Amino acid sequence: MALRTLESLGSLGGRRVLLRCDLNVPLKDGAITDDGRVRASLGTINTLVNAGARVIVVSHLGRPDGAPDAKYSLAPVAQRLSELLGAPVAFAEDTVGEAAASAVEKLTDGSVLVLENLRFNPEETSKDEAERRSFAEKLAAFADAFVSDGFGVVHRKQASVYELASLLPSAAGSLIASELEVLDRLTESPERPYAVVLGGSKVSDKLGVIEHLLPRVDTLLIGGGMVFTFLAAQGHSVGKSLLEADQLDTVRGYLDDAEKRGVRIVLPTDIVVAEKFGADAEHVVQPADAIEDSPFGASGLGLDIGPETGRAFAAEIRDAKTVFWNGPMGVFELEAFAEGTRAVAQALTEVDGLSVVGGGDSAAAVRALGFADDAFGHISTGGGASLEFLEGKRLPGLEVLGWQR
Ligand code: 3PG
Repeated sequence: MALRTLESLGSLGGRRVLLRCDLNVPLKDGAITDDGRVRASLGTINTLVNAGARVIVVSHLGRPDGAPDAKYSLAPVAQRLSELLGAPVAFAEDTVGEAAASAVEKLTDGSVLVLENLRFNPEETSKDEAERRSFAEKLAAFADAFVSDGFGVVHRKQASVYELASLLPSAAGSLIASELEVLDRLTESPERPYAVVLGGSKVSDKLGVIEHLLPRVDTLLIGGGMVFTFLAAQGHSVGKSLLEADQLDTVRGYLDDAEKRGVRIVLPTDIVVAEKFGADAEHVVQPADAIEDSPFGASGLGLDIGPETGRAFAAEIRDAKTVFWNGPMGVFELEAFAEGTRAVAQALTEVDGLSVVGGGDSAAAVRALGFADDAFGHISTGGGASLEFLEGKRLPGLEVLGWQR
């Protein structure tokens, strides 16, 4: 069955529409450091506003403990949304309480309201279906229709993502529709060569995706903290670098499987090794198979791929016709260890084909390094969601909108 789109809801003029967005943006000292997810939500919000709907935006922010917590308030996000829309946006200081009810009452056609963080209510993420349903019913009481557009959260079976969609006439917004169009191209018929670049800290987060991709890709490039488990699996010492010892056998299995299938797993040949973790840490470039021969011996830690690897990865990426990238190559937040991530990002902008940056940290990284969104084929707003999509997992937030693989 196909995804239900906005058109299926008919005319929305004068109707109250509850819109689930993923406005989970990074904040530092109360200020938004990357508003990509707010900007990505504008398309559907504007469509609803222009149709004369009364728009009630709901979202989570961070992982509060099921109770109000000022540092996870959506207030700064509502403010940013208002700036981007160039129109006032009302904000309710609770999600389903009196403040929300009275703000919904005051809505006029074409106006926008943001309710406080869904996760200030423990029922939103409850494991108990009845609790989730009862919370979803409270939200549903505010509206005549439901539009789901938080792609970053479609892998979560949560009240506002799953239960709510069956309580009101519901459909997907244009962000979810466009994310699916691109991710479908990666899974259905990617133009070859198809290269996937994986980084980030943990191999264990990427096990499913590596397993699912091995039969489908031509080249897998591995960087970031997870690479040290691969180097250790090949018998190299990695000093104090991140290592998931309990994954060594699994990783050896992947290396064998890749060889049998003729898939190239490309690992770094050099690593930036630091004396300690920190912006001012002394560091040197070391061959990847001799990390402990650095001046820091067994206490050195790898914080980025080296320049030779950066060039090699860039060449592989530029030669591909389809590239998916998830996870930074090093500690890009510290300038001394940002070069590997920069080299990969730059190469993705030069792909003559489809280049996709998969959400979360990688999206934040490319923007922090000064790349424009439109330099890439697509920047997904979903980190975990895009990975689970590529893993071939069932995504409750999409299935409830009629979508099936
Ligand atoms: C994300 O940041 O990947 C989404 O907003 C989902 O957040 P969560 O992992 O806390 O559910």
